[in-house]
Amino acid sequence: MAAKIIDGKAVARELRAEWKARAGCLRARGIYPGLAVILVGDNLASRVYVRNKVNACREVGIHSELHEFPAGVPEEAVIFRIRQLNANRTIHGILVQLPLPRHIDNRRVLEAISPEKDVDGFHLYNVGALVAGSAVFPPCTPYGVMRLLQHAGIAVEGKHAVVVGRSNIVGKPMALMLLEAGATVTICTSKTRDLADHTGRADILVVATGRPKLVSGDMVKDGVVVIDVGINRLPDGRLVGDVDYESVARKASHITPVPGGVGPMTVTMLLVNTIDAAERDARCAPPAETGCRRSPAITA
Ligand code: GUN
Repeated sequence: MAAKIIDGKAVARELRAEWKARAGCLRARGIYPGLAVILVGDNLASRVYVRNKVNACREVGIHSELHEFPAGVPEEAVIFRIRQLNANRTIHGILVQLPLPRHIDNRRVLEAISPEKDVDGFHLYNVGALVAGSAVFPPCTPYGVMRLLQHAGIAVEGKHAVVVGRSNIVGKPMALMLLEAGATVTICTSKTRDLADHTGRADILVVATGRPKLVSGDMVKDGVVVIDVGINRLPDGRLVGDVDYESVARKASHITPVPGGVGPMTVTMLLVNTIDAAERDARCAPPAETGCRRSPAITA
């Protein structure tokens, strides 16, 4: 069976057109959705991610500001800037690009962001809301995965979902969202003993470990839906996921490619979280006659 490819790029393009219309509705009412991105240090990958986010904002009509700090900046200076942005009415979303330099306490910095502007969904308030099943800002990558599944017409309820990876950014929130959508969820890590035993029972398999080609075709069952969140650069320069695409695609019913699968969705969902924040701030549901819609429930 040839696996259907879940084309994240195409889905992201479609959704961004929708977000653009929503941002336009806000602007027509004098509200310009605004995102502030904080970048500390000179991590090359972070710089590329941030540039993508700023460009994506421009594409859909969101105002964005980049606040850069040198690697040695004191933690208090970053927190001070966040407090200023919390009070700035033209900014609806604040994002601190991770990782931060080692001398900075991630938690202190993330907790400084006002939960109403925490468009990454990393503040403990939003983590708690996600656990309670009423996410305010779902973390962007797992949120994007849920939208990909929805778009591909894959029902989650009653399925056995296996998540490999336990990061705060992807694995843990992913498991919670799948659970909320009615899946039976198993959480594994790259160190799980007999990993194939678990992955082999998955109806839906999400892999987010940062280990290139950790999951191979012999570790999955026929008909599995595979979402590969990994993006790893091999010594020969090729980009690969955490899944061995060729062997897994021979057995899967659906699979995301790397690149072009989950990647484009992360930024796309950041955009909609920012638009949601601006709409909430303005307490303005988009008027029905504009054809603009709010984000659907993530568990739909
Ligand atoms: N670093 C890697 N992924 C992310 C993300 O989704 N958000 C932020 N802020 N930093 C990251």
